[in-house]
Amino acid sequence: MTSPAGDPSHPSAATAPGAAAETTLASPETAPVGPRLDRTGPFVVGDKVQLADAKNRLHTITLKDGGQFHSHRGVLHHDLLIGAEDGTVVEDSQGTRYQALRPLYSDYMLSMPRGAAIIYPKDSAQILMWGDIFPGARVLEAGVGSGGLTTALLRAVGPDGSVHSIERRGEFAEVARENVETYFGGPHPAWTLSLGDFQDTALELAADGPCADRVVLDMLAPWECVDAAATALVSGGVFLAYVATVTQLSRTAEALRDHGEFTEPSAWESFVRPWHLEGLAVRPEHRMNAHTGFLLTARRAAHGVQALTRSRRPAPGSQLAEELAHPDNDGFGGSDTTWTAEDLGERGVTPRKVKRALRDIRQGRDR
Ligand SMILES: C[S@@+](CC[C@H](N)C(=O)[O-])C[C@H]1O[C@@H](n2cnc3c(N)ncnc32)[C@H](O)[C@@H]1O
Repeated sequence: MTSPAGDPSHPSAATAPGAAAETTLASPETAPVGPRLDRTGPFVVGDKVQLADAKNRLHTITLKDGGQFHSHRGVLHHDLLIGAEDGTVVEDSQGTRYQALRPLYSDYMLSMPRGAAIIYPKDSAQILMWGDIFPGARVLEAGVGSGGLTTALLRAVGPDGSVHSIERRGEFAEVARENVETYFGGPHPAWTLSLGDFQDTALELAADGPCADRVVLDMLAPWECVDAAATALVSGGVFLAYVATVTQLSRTAEALRDHGEFTEPSAWESFVRPWHLEGLAVRPEHRMNAHTGFLLTARRAAHGVQALTRSRRPAPGSQLAEELAHPDNDGFGGSDTTWTAEDLGERGVTPRKVKRALRDIRQGRDR
């Protein structure tokens, strides 16, 4: 796998052709990725530390020389933690004890300030496995939202791979950049963030030929991106979409089939049921997240080759033109109906929420 610096067609190369280059968002600083959450060893100034009290109430602090953490119970001096082993137990001025641990990726994801909804760790884990995100892979991703999945992708491709994230909304791109760079302690050398629509930017990036090993989409209408993804993906590459509803899932699967150069799509969802572990009371927790989203993957056939489709008899009515044209099924089978987030029951994100997320990231505040 060629490194970004050595391959001009690589999605993370410094200047992508055309408008993609103009809309690529430069980082304000050029400092290398700093040691933050991925590091091990004793705590140092600048580390994020998660404090858990005896009732497992969590607080995240960023260590500063002479810094203090105030709770309604007492004051904890950061100097007690600087130089201490990860996993140490400390006491505040009133004798309240805290277990101090460097947060894991999943802790950071669940607490980070967000504009758009993020992908939860259980789904990121599935995406990395079934999207086959390997060290050195060239990944094209859209939309970037709050940067939750981007962070997982960057960790998986490592410094020799690349993640090119495409986001159509400037304010979300800004939140994502702050979150990703806060996580890595600075701009990540394998990351490029472009402002625009996937459909346009992916085509510009692929002007000289396929440029992505993997395409990962988390957005409202991934079916609109199937043609551009097919152009950008190398032969044999993986297309993966994460969608919240069955209607999106069905429409994306049909778009992949209609394209002709994708293998038969596979779809699934995952459930994680936490367990209560106490003495003899070992049982599932009463509550769990019943639904997050569906995943769908397909392989890109060799360019110019129709994928071998499974011979199957469609369920009666499932593909009939008159059935799809029925007003009740508006939006399926190639109609041009525009979907909105509200159609799928998602709440819109107000400018105030985005502003609050940016303020929280800049002040180092966690949820
Ligand atoms: C649910 S969010 C993505 C969340 C993200 N995966 C995370 O973990 O934080 C969906 C994003 O896709 C963006 N989007 C929707 N359609 C797009 C398109 N065609 N091209 C680029 N971005 C798009 C939206 O603006 C929104 O920010």
